[in-house]
Amino acid sequence: MMASRVKLKFPPGPSFGFRRWSLGPLNSGDPLEYFTRIIREYGDVVGLRIFNFRILLINHPDHIEEVLVKHPRKFIKGRVLQANKRVFGRGLLTSEGDFWLRQRRLAQPAFHRARIAGYASTMVEYTERLLDEWQDGEERDIHKEMMRLTLQIVGKTLFDADVERDAKDIGKSMELLLELGADFRRTLFIPQWLPTPTNIRLERAIRQIEKVLYRIIAEKRASGRDAGDLLSMLLAAQDEDGSRMTDKQLRDEAITLFLAGHETTANTLSWTWWLLAENPAVEAKLHAELGTVLAGRGPSLDDLPKLVYTNHIITESLRLYPPAWGTARTAVEDHEISGYSVPKGSGVSFAQWTVHRDRRWYEAPDEFRPERWEGDLLKRLPRFAYFPFGGGPRQCIGNTFALMETALILATIAQQFRFRLVEGYPVVPLASITLRPRHGIRAVLELRTSKSRVAVGENERLAL
Ligand code: HEM
Repeated sequence: MMASRVKLKFPPGPSFGFRRWSLGPLNSGDPLEYFTRIIREYGDVVGLRIFNFRILLINHPDHIEEVLVKHPRKFIKGRVLQANKRVFGRGLLTSEGDFWLRQRRLAQPAFHRARIAGYASTMVEYTERLLDEWQDGEERDIHKEMMRLTLQIVGKTLFDADVERDAKDIGKSMELLLELGADFRRTLFIPQWLPTPTNIRLERAIRQIEKVLYRIIAEKRASGRDAGDLLSMLLAAQDEDGSRMTDKQLRDEAITLFLAGHETTANTLSWTWWLLAENPAVEAKLHAELGTVLAGRGPSLDDLPKLVYTNHIITESLRLYPPAWGTARTAVEDHEISGYSVPKGSGVSFAQWTVHRDRRWYEAPDEFRPERWEGDLLKRLPRFAYFPFGGGPRQCIGNTFALMETALILATIAQQFRFRLVEGYPVVPLASITLRPRHGIRAVLELRTSKSRVAVGENERLAL
């Protein structure tokens, strides 16, 4: 019992002093800057009070490990995710306890390396299809292009559905869900059942996505065919008592995978393209490696271990611009971190953004240096100095999928195109639920080489 123990203090933080509480990050236009500043000011454990709710912001890898790996049962997902239950339902990202464990066990086999290996050719094929639409010298929003591409890949590989016909509507609805779900103040303080104009828009967006998902589920049930995708597996999966998932459960998992699986990877790619365009020396090394290993042909799964520098680029991009930029938990039991009390019901948060840019772990932390990953830096770092996919039992189920997809798309596109950023166009990170470019990334497409394009060009010349 806490009462019989020495009473532990709540850590100091910006909510103390002349103000007893503050809206803290909720009131800050830029949570990335806010967290960076208060950690610099107060150290590795910062106490925040938002109204009567207490949050410990922790920043040391060992403390993060304690929460995610050593005591995961003492913490459940944070309030923002909980408040988004209307969207995610009881899908993998938001469910807890025995229910979560059962779902995770059912879904896990679909993400095994051997299983997702089969998705590699789809990933390359869909990327090439996108490139067929691109023209040399054209200006496009790279982020929009990446969102469209990863949405189609998730649709095909996880649901065996061609979502191309729905991509526009789904894309719009997803954007709205992400935008509204990421408005922390709104999410926390305005109940989702209140018919406010924003909630009505949110409800409409959810319905739009549900319509597509229920259609896919119905088509699958009717066909009874296992096409090797995740949804077929979940449809066929049986509990010990023989019961199967209801349409509602399938909808919850599907929407979770849709949301968790496509925007994060699209962000990784978008930030990587931007970093490459800003760092021509790195880009040149990437082109050299692709030239040596692939020599103009499309990449396959077997090529990935040979694309060492390409992988360092992705690792470094995920360090500087982690799509999951922060993590939140709520304590369901009293706990103690670094001599401070974590009372039951309080929040514990930590930010990949600040930990990944900490000079205790990284030299010149704000610089994009893929070379830093040569020579096993990862092994020398504390386990949670680099954790773009989280850790412990709730770690990302799609990490292998995401890394494979990012590398294949990067290698396919970079062989054919490079991007020249539109001068003066602001590229600004927006820390919503994920970390994305607030206004997208506008760039001019510059054709490098293309086998098919060269062939067409030569035929045309011959014809002339
Ligand atoms: C670069 C891409 C990605 C990043 C950075 C990322 C990051 C994360 C992180 C940090 C978590 C843990 C959240 C927490 O502890 O609260 C997570 C969980 C999850 N991710 Fe990812 N993710 C990515 C791609 C994917 C993909 C491609 C999928 C599916 C196809 C996916 C599905 C999930 C699911 C279902 C969970 C919840 C797992 C559970 O609690 O059992 N993610 N992701």
